[in-house]
Amino acid sequence: MMTNNISEIVNQLTLKEKAGLVSGKLYWFTEAIKRLGISQVMMTDGPSGLRKQADSSDALGLNNSVEAISFPTAALTASSFDRRLLSNLGKHLGIAAKANDVGVVLGPGVNIKRSPLAGRNFEYFSEDPLVAGELGTAYVKGVQSQGIGVSVKHFAANNRENQRFTVSSEIDERTLREIYLAAFERIVKKASPATLMCSYNAINGTLNSQNKRLLTDILRNEWGFDGLVMSDWGAVADHVAALKAGLDLEMPGKGQESIDEIVEAVQNGRLSESELNITCRRILSLVNRYSELNDDGKISYQKSEQHHFAREAAEESMVLLKNQDDILPLSSQEKLAIIGELAVKPRYQGGGSSHVNAFQITTPWEIGKKLYPEASYAQGYSLDNSEFSDKLIDQAVEAAKAANKVIIFAGVPESAESEGFDKTTIELPAAQNKLIRAITQINSNVVVVLQNGSAVTTPWISQVRAVLETYLAGEAVGEATWDVLTGEVNPSGKLAETFPMRIQDTPTYGTFNANLLYENYREGIYVGYRYYDFKEIPVQFPFGFGLSYTTFSYQNLKVEQLPNQRVAISLDVRNTGKRVGKEIVQLYVANHASQIEKPAKELREFAKIQLAPGESKRIRMTLSRRDFSWYNEQTHAWQMDNGVYEVLIGKSSQNIELSQLLTLQWNKLVKEKISGNTYFSDIIKRQDLTSSLKESGLDKLINSLENSNSNAQLLENIPLRSAVMLGATTAQVNKFIRMANN
Ligand code: BGC
Repeated sequence: MMTNNISEIVNQLTLKEKAGLVSGKLYWFTEAIKRLGISQVMMTDGPSGLRKQADSSDALGLNNSVEAISFPTAALTASSFDRRLLSNLGKHLGIAAKANDVGVVLGPGVNIKRSPLAGRNFEYFSEDPLVAGELGTAYVKGVQSQGIGVSVKHFAANNRENQRFTVSSEIDERTLREIYLAAFERIVKKASPATLMCSYNAINGTLNSQNKRLLTDILRNEWGFDGLVMSDWGAVADHVAALKAGLDLEMPGKGQESIDEIVEAVQNGRLSESELNITCRRILSLVNRYSELNDDGKISYQKSEQHHFAREAAEESMVLLKNQDDILPLSSQEKLAIIGELAVKPRYQGGGSSHVNAFQITTPWEIGKKLYPEASYAQGYSLDNSEFSDKLIDQAVEAAKAANKVIIFAGVPESAESEGFDKTTIELPAAQNKLIRAITQINSNVVVVLQNGSAVTTPWISQVRAVLETYLAGEAVGEATWDVLTGEVNPSGKLAETFPMRIQDTPTYGTFNANLLYENYREGIYVGYRYYDFKEIPVQFPFGFGLSYTTFSYQNLKVEQLPNQRVAISLDVRNTGKRVGKEIVQLYVANHASQIEKPAKELREFAKIQLAPGESKRIRMTLSRRDFSWYNEQTHAWQMDNGVYEVLIGKSSQNIELSQLLTLQWNKLVKEKISGNTYFSDIIKRQDLTSSLKESGLDKLINSLENSNSNAQLLENIPLRSAVMLGATTAQVNKFIRMANN
């Protein structure tokens, strides 16, 4: 089918066929229409591995799917801050999809991590929209470079799992634009994704699947999206309303029922056939590009190669959170005790629709035993049972006594963290915390390796020597973990989310999941580090934090204004240690210009570079007008204000190494109109008003009050219309306003 034929084909479709096309076929397909040579497109999860269901199908990952590589989840790959890595991940997923006759991969998930309790954080990149948007862009470009489409999900403001089908996210417009839509906007504009998936929830009372403002006004008219919008599985409540709002494809379809409701709506005038035609054209252009390949187009792929990439992706992303006295990397001579059931039954992927039938899982125990044949193992706790077992702890303590170093594998069991429900705690199971404490009492060389989908608390942090965050690391978890522990690979990941001290310190504490019907985004734009850094709330590990086995220094920051409202930033980064390593450099901007609520600083760029010992490289980054702007909900536009900004270069959001002030005058100076509501503070600042003040006689009033110290501030805080209180006459005020505006 050729693109220019699409309109012709739409003309040949019967109403019933059109109705069939806009409803998915079974769980994973678009409808094929053999009569006109229209084939079907297959869609398959997911973000971190292909979940093509072979036999019986379901949306929640309960049934088996074809064997595929389980790559690390987004929580881990985001910590790489590495666009190239995400693009390669996308390419591998695209290849696996092509080999399996899948046309559209249902991912990436780019929702913002608003609360560490949200059940699906493991599947999302970050608390920061730039990180989610940039890494999402790289992923999408990677998949689509293989001729396979994506579905960027879940659009939008889908930040909790409880009541996810009905809950309304109550958000002010500025927060929506700056935090929750920004990653989608970036991806739409930079990567032209084939499709977007609209989420289950409502925003401010309107279900997203029938939200015209979201699906048409913003997505298509403002951002220029020309792809297709599909629903999340089961997100459509009123199919006709959804089509009218800009949804193209209901997933999964309801079979004959879907067809009947659309046909009836056209017949009774609720839906016009021309509206239906627009949607059909979008579906046909998706079919045109991504329908099932004929045999010539099919490829096969090497699973072992992809497994190797899964290992690389994991080790490039793991985050070293503590390494006291350089206890890591381990030497080959250590006498190790390896403790914790997660070493044997690792948690390497998330639960729900992203669950993959993994190709080749390597466990930490299996690899550890190969590297350290003398190592002992103790279970320590039971993943099935959160009660402590004194027996398991005693056995672990015995094993630890005989070792020079202890590696404890700890984390959150799958039963406590999955798609479909939110968590109730960010603490590790009590039995694990108890185990860690017991071991640190008899061995002072304890390393904790964490496997979890989202931030956890680490109450034993001061008693252990090292912590390695591996999140859900994919099927190569065993190899990747030991590569980092032994220094085969120098860790270079940094946290894409803050680890708070306690849940009570988080910005959504008390509001998250508090209400069955509404999720109130009362914290507004203050999400993640935007909240902690502004309010100076101590955190366990800040956003952007991560250690290396080498060290880096930053020098020679240069900030230059370029033509066309751009700013060039450059600096030198040097590897000051003894190993090759990679550093993630973060560029934040503090806005000192705008008279609005604003975070202390916001991430506006990042770069990752590799350096040999002693080597130094210059990093160059460019910012544009939008990086200095905020969303003004009164004018419905992004606004940049003239004034002073600060460029901050950090190793994390709380470790700023270099900074420089910058004055931007990118807007034409427009004189504010004077009215009765203009304050004296603003009048005094304006030299051009001196003669009007004089002629109206208001200058005397100002002089007398300004000369008496105690009244100066009082005067400044009074508007013209109230100047009578200070002894001015209405005639004087009116004369001044007239003259000032002439
Ligand atoms: C999930 C989506 C997923 C879809 C299909 C839904 O329950 O929210 O992320 O793509 O199922 O499996």
